[in-house]
Amino acid sequence: MSKDKIILIGGGGHCHSCIDVIEAQGDYEIAGVIERTKKQKVDPTLGYPIVGYDEDLSNLRKQIDYALITVGQVGSGSKRQKLFDRLKKMNFVLPVIISPSAHVSRHAVIGEGTIVMHQVIVNAGASIGKNCILNTKCLIEHDTMVGHHTHISTAAVINGGGEIGSCCFVGSNATIIQGVRISDNQFLKAGRLYSE
Ligand SMILES: CC(C)(COP(=O)(O)OP(=O)(O)OC[C@H]1O[C@@H](n2cnc3c(N)ncnc32)[C@H](O)[C@@H]1OP(=O)(O)O)[C@@H](O)C(=O)NCCC(=O)NCCS
Repeated sequence: MSKDKIILIGGGGHCHSCIDVIEAQGDYEIAGVIERTKKQKVDPTLGYPIVGYDEDLSNLRKQIDYALITVGQVGSGSKRQKLFDRLKKMNFVLPVIISPSAHVSRHAVIGEGTIVMHQVIVNAGASIGKNCILNTKCLIEHDTMVGHHTHISTAAVINGGGEIGSCCFVGSNATIIQGVRISDNQFLKAGRLYSE
């Protein structure tokens, strides 16, 4: 049976990691990559062709239903949020992508357009927003809420009952103590302990 085709928006380093997860999950056929403008690179990304630029998205929507935002995020989620809103207006379907090596509790909720990368754990009662990045090996413990357009970086730990706002960046290997609330648009540094 042929797989649904998906286009990837943004062909940089984060896109490489996303490609590995999509290939491992095996539910979609990667049709190609979209770059912002022709000024960007034109070479294939890990062998996948550049099939267009942001200006071509509405035309591409006539042939392709599925899209994933693969633009990275070190800092605010506003760029990814704008892309998300644009793709929704064009009625692209933004699936949840989950690595087969991740564990996502059946008692957890994951919002559309979110990617759950290799060896991530999302425990029972957790609720993850739309268009988030749960990067490689991060831990989202029980009953934790994560807002929309937020990036939880590699190996970061959010302990139980935590609350992370929307458009946040939680740095690599940062640790958030149980029950701590982080408001929207926050930048949490790599390796730092957040206990309040
Ligand atoms: C590497 C790092 C710890 C260095 O921090 P630093 O020594 O304070 O130096 P910086 O110049 O980067 O930061 C200066 C300030 O700007 C903040 N900052 C850095 N980048 C920022 C960004 N993109 N958006 C908002 N704030 C930012 C830092 O938190 C710091 O704030 P503070 O002065 O209140 O502590 C920090 O930049 C960081 O955590 N980066 C993210 C690394 C990471 O997790 N990468 C994973 C990618 S998947």
